[in-house]
Amino acid sequence: MAGRSRTGVTRREFLVGMGGTVAAGAALSGGARADEGDGPPVAESDRVLGPEAVRITIALNGENRTLDVEPRVTLLDLLRSSLDLTGAKKICDRGACGGCTVLLDGEPVNSCLVLAIDADGREVRTVEGLAADGALTPLQEEFVRHDALQCGFCTPGFVMSCHALLSRNPDPTEAEVRAACAGNICRCGAYSGVLAAAMAAAKRRR
Ligand code: FES
Ligand code: FES
Repeated sequence: MAGRSRTGVTRREFLVGMGGTVAAGAALSGGARADEGDGPPVAESDRVLGPEAVRITIALNGENRTLDVEPRVTLLDLLRSSLDLTGAKKICDRGACGGCTVLLDGEPVNSCLVLAIDADGREVRTVEGLAADGALTPLQEEFVRHDALQCGFCTPGFVMSCHALLSRNPDPTEAEVRAACAGNICRCGAYSGVLAAAMAAAKRRR
């Protein structure tokens, strides 16, 4: 799972920076808009964003969304609090459980560790974006068929990790499924069901 953003600023580094004298925001080279201000020209990589909201556009589940977001807001909080997409779960909020897994440009990330502004200009897919017209994907159907959940709180994260794996490797080994889900924690112990579901979904794709 990704802890470091495309811009090279991790959430931890960002928050540490917020505690220092330069509390105004983060220096980023992404596409999010920075205020120009007075003074000499500032290199794109040195521009400071925030603390006020900046405008970003993300391709969210296939639909472009333009939003004004404070640089301190994580992608997870943007999804859950501003966009009402609550599939990604806020459990540990520190990159330890995988419950918040979403796809960023097709790669699984812990969205609690990604600043929303780092998703600017990128594709975000959440578990809500998998089923087309309410029809579950084969992977989701296999999760149901193999009883790969108990309380279900971790399930969206597991589904997204398995979906990412099957997208790049349609014929994984059990070891590869385990590796793909290594960052996902299930307190109910549904791991064997998840493994069976992923293998069954791969078999259906072949
Ligand atoms: S809530 Fe993001 S990894 Fe646990
Ligand atoms: S099904 Fe309960 S935490 Fe995984």
